[in-house]
Amino acid sequence: MSLELRGITKRFGALTANDAIDLKVESGEIHAILGENGAGKSTLMNIVYGLLAPDEGTISVDNKVLKIESPLDALAAGIGMVHQHFMLIPVFTVAENIVLGHEKVKGPGFLDLERARREILRVSAEFNFDVDPDALVEDLPVGIQQRVEIIRALIYDAKVLILDEPTAVLTPQETDELLRNMKKLRDQGTAIVFITHKLREVREAADKITIIRRGKVVGTASPTASQEELASLMVGRPVSLDVEKNAPKLGGIALDVRNLTVRDYTGRALVKNVSFSISDGEILAVAGVQGNGQSELAEAIVGLQEHIEGEITLDGKNLAGVSVRKALHSGIAFIPESREEDGLISSFSIEENLILDLHDLPPFSNGSAISQVAVAENGVKRVAEFDIRALSPKDPASSLSGGNKQKVVLARELSRPVRLVVASQPTRGLDVGSIEFVHERIIAERDSGRAVLLFSTELDEVVGLADRIAVMYRGEFIAIVPADTSREELGLLMAGVKR
Ligand SMILES: Nc1ncnc2c1ncn2[C@@H]1O[C@H](COP(=O)(O)OP(=O)(O)O)[C@@H](O)[C@H]1O
Ligand SMILES: [Mg+2]
Repeated sequence: MSLELRGITKRFGALTANDAIDLKVESGEIHAILGENGAGKSTLMNIVYGLLAPDEGTISVDNKVLKIESPLDALAAGIGMVHQHFMLIPVFTVAENIVLGHEKVKGPGFLDLERARREILRVSAEFNFDVDPDALVEDLPVGIQQRVEIIRALIYDAKVLILDEPTAVLTPQETDELLRNMKKLRDQGTAIVFITHKLREVREAADKITIIRRGKVVGTASPTASQEELASLMVGRPVSLDVEKNAPKLGGIALDVRNLTVRDYTGRALVKNVSFSISDGEILAVAGVQGNGQSELAEAIVGLQEHIEGEITLDGKNLAGVSVRKALHSGIAFIPESREEDGLISSFSIEENLILDLHDLPPFSNGSAISQVAVAENGVKRVAEFDIRALSPKDPASSLSGGNKQKVVLARELSRPVRLVVASQPTRGLDVGSIEFVHERIIAERDSGRAVLLFSTELDEVVGLADRIAVMYRGEFIAIVPADTSREELGLLMAGVKR
């Protein structure tokens, strides 16, 4: 089976998200679509999957032009898609999600719950997915939810499988497993469209690579191309993939944490007796596999956790137990793990998001009313300074791509007087260009004398940015080691092995 797109154009108002895109994908190949955040990848695939209507262009399957007006049309034509943000209904079971709404799709014939269960178990066994058909989707970790979407596509007999940034939510081990399964499907004759911005994965799994920049196809590359070649095609300029930084100039102690324990509402300790300090001009990076208490530790420091014991001081002033507002106003910049939920208000404009916790302070407020002029001026200034790609600062934050949303958060948090930067997974889901930008900003903060507490599950990021590394395992700091500690040693510590 082959899927061919000709001249696909999609406009959102004045923005051309897809500009006359041609693309051909054939069975038995993994075709990577590589592009920066905002390049137009998801838009293109949502058109193929019937979620968006193109303004121009045609989609053909096996040389026949098709009208795909809904995901059901797409599934019926043999096209399945796994979304960047999953489309499952949380309060339903896996089997219910697979049956519901699909009654009209040809392929598996009539699918009742019983048969869906059997099919789920069959596909799950074939790909080592370990998915329980009766589990509620809301109880499943994201890695498993993704498998449910893959299973759905396979049950409906997808011959073309589109995966939109599938590795963004996975651990390194889960990623390796997914890439193996993609190759297995390819070898069985499935055409795989692999949307990503991760160069290592493209080079490892892709048979063909098409690069999209600002809505246009700008070239194709072979998987043997170097990371630098791919990165510069994607970004449109030479990109340095190594983090460059000078030796730290340490000042006095900024943040000091003593015997900090954080509990959930049942009293279970998620952070256990953690002690450390960070100096001015220093980056302490916390490494560890996701879910070992990193999020709770970050939240405790910025006043987002209720049940805490121990001491937290910034410049000698107590922070333990204070409100988020007080913590932020005492000089903490917070870059939260989930920018969509905690970093931004999507329905607010970009310029409003840029003053979220500052709206009642001058120059934005005179004590009684907000100055729209000051808000607008600040918006224009920050959008330029942080290279936020938006048509206007008055557009809703929801219209931005992930990398640009993160830039809005950085622009707001780093543009006020700050002593300590707490950054949780600051580059998760971002492309090379945005990652480079975020890394440069974090190093600039450190070089200007601020203390930085960085949480990252990406070992490359930890090793590239840290002045010292703390490894977190089951709520504890299992070790605090120098930045030049070997990856092997760090890997062992992350698995709880202390030598
Ligand atoms: N529904 C929408 N309304 C307005 N603009 C949108 C919409 N969806 C996407 N865009 C814009 O289109 C561009 C391409 O977005 P997208 O396809 O999500 O990029 P990618 O998936 O490559 O990161 C971005 O500038 C984005 O802000
Ligand atoms: Mg996308």
